[in-house]
Amino acid sequence: MRFLYQQLEQQLTEQIESGQLALGSRLPSVRQLCSEQGLSKSTVLTAYARLEAAGLISARAKSGYFVCYQPQSGIPEVTDVAPMTPAYVSVDSVLLDIMEQSAAFDICPAAGDAPSNENLRRCLARAVRRQRSGQQHYYDEPAGLSGLRQQLVRRCGESGSQLNADQLVVTGGCQHSLMLALMAVTRPGDTVAVESPGFYGVLQLIESLGLKAVEIPASTSTGISPDALEMALQHWQISALVTMPGFATPTGACMPDEHKQRLVALLAERDIAIIEDDIYGDLTFGLQRPRSLHSFAQAQGYDGVLLCSSVSKSLSRDLRIGWIAPGRYLQQIKKLKLVTQLASSQSSQYGLQMFMEEGGYDRHIRQRRQQLAEQCQQLQQLIQSSFDVPVQMSQPRGGMALWLELPDDLNTMELYNRARQEGISITPGSLFTSQQRYQNCMRLSFSQPWNKRRIEALEQLAGLVAERK
Ligand SMILES: Cc1ncc(COP(=O)(O)O)c(C=O)c1O
Repeated sequence: MRFLYQQLEQQLTEQIESGQLALGSRLPSVRQLCSEQGLSKSTVLTAYARLEAAGLISARAKSGYFVCYQPQSGIPEVTDVAPMTPAYVSVDSVLLDIMEQSAAFDICPAAGDAPSNENLRRCLARAVRRQRSGQQHYYDEPAGLSGLRQQLVRRCGESGSQLNADQLVVTGGCQHSLMLALMAVTRPGDTVAVESPGFYGVLQLIESLGLKAVEIPASTSTGISPDALEMALQHWQISALVTMPGFATPTGACMPDEHKQRLVALLAERDIAIIEDDIYGDLTFGLQRPRSLHSFAQAQGYDGVLLCSSVSKSLSRDLRIGWIAPGRYLQQIKKLKLVTQLASSQSSQYGLQMFMEEGGYDRHIRQRRQQLAEQCQQLQQLIQSSFDVPVQMSQPRGGMALWLELPDDLNTMELYNRARQEGISITPGSLFTSQQRYQNCMRLSFSQPWNKRRIEALEQLAGLVAERK
C-alpha cells in the first residue's frame, strides 16, 4: 500500500516523463490540487518536494511550481533483440591514458574546485590516532572490520537487501569486488553476459580472466533488455550476468522493478549467477534510492546474486573501500580476498565506520544527490547551448554520467585525441563495448561543479566537434 503523496508523485512523474506536462509548464497550485483530488496540503507539498528533489520540477518564488525536465531527446530505445555472439575481449589501451591523467570523471582535471568532506578527514585522522600501538604489524581479518560491516549492511538495507554483517566482505573497491565475483563464478573460456553499452572495467576483467563476453543491448533509460537477455540465454551457455540496475554507466539508465523481477526469474530458473554492480545506486536525484536486484532475488529465495559496491562514487575514490555480499559464494569470496589482497587497511575502515556511525555519510549523501541533480541539468543546458550539431543525450535520474550520441560520421576516439592536446578529457564510446560500436558516442561526467574552466572546456569541445564536421 503506497502513501497518497507517493501516488500523486507517481501520477505527476508519468505526466512529465510522457511529455503531457511539458518543459516550462506550470503545475496546478497546491490549493487547486487539494480541492480537485481531495488531498491535504501536506500531501501535495510532500509530493512536490520529492519531485523537486528528483529534478523534475522547480519552485519559483511567488509563481508556483514549473516543470524543468525534458523527456528523452530521442536516443532510440532497444528494439533489436538479436543476440550477439560470445567473443573474447580486447580493451583499448587508451583507458590507461585516461587513468594516468586522473580524467575518467572530469572534463578538465586541472579545473580544481572538487568538494572535500572535512568531517571524513577528521574521522580518518581520529582513526589513525586511536590505533593501538603496534597494530600496524597485524593484518585485519579477511572479511574486514566487523564494525564497518555492520554499517555497510545497514546501508544495504536502504536498497531492500536484508543482510547481516557476516554475509559481507570488505574489498579494495568495487572493481576488486567485481573481480572476486567473476573469479568465483567462472572458469577461463566461460561466457559472461554484459550490458551494451557497459562498463569498460568489466570488459577489462573479462579480458584478463580469459572469459568471453556476450553483449546484451541496453536501453539508455531502462537498462538491459530482458527480451534480449532471454534470447541470449536460449542460444548460449552463459555462466554469469554482470548488470548495473541502478544508474548504469555510461548512460545513467535505471532498471524498472518489473525488469529486475523478470531478470531474477530468468537467471534463477537456470541457476546462473548475477553480479550486481550497485556503485551508483545511492546517487539518485530523488529522495529514495532504487531497490537492489539482490533484494528481489532474496524475495524469490534465490541466493545466486553477488552484490558489489563501494564508496568510490558516493564519497571518496581514494579510500579504496568497497564490499561484496556474495550470497552462496561467501566462502570462496573470503578465500579469494585473502589471495588477492590479504587484508584491508584497518585505520581507513575504522575512519569510514566512525563517519557512518556519526551520521556523516547520510548528511553527505543528501547533499551530493542534490548537487549531482543540479550539475546534470547544467550540463544538459550547456550542451544544448554550445553544440551546433545534432546531439542526442540520455536523461539520467541519478549517477554521474551522461551518454551523448553525435552525428554518425563523427569519431569520438579521434575527438578524444584532439581534445587531450587541449587538456580536455572525454570518454570515447568505443570503450564501452568490445565490438565495433558507439564510435560516434561519448560519456561526459557531471561529477564535478561547472566552474568557469570546466564551462570553457565544454565550449572548446563543442568547437572541436564543429571543426570535425
Ligand atoms: C560501474 C562501475 N563499477 C565499478 C567501478 C570501480 O569502482 P572502484 O573505484 O570502487 O573500484 C567504477 C569506476 O569507474 C564504475 O563506474
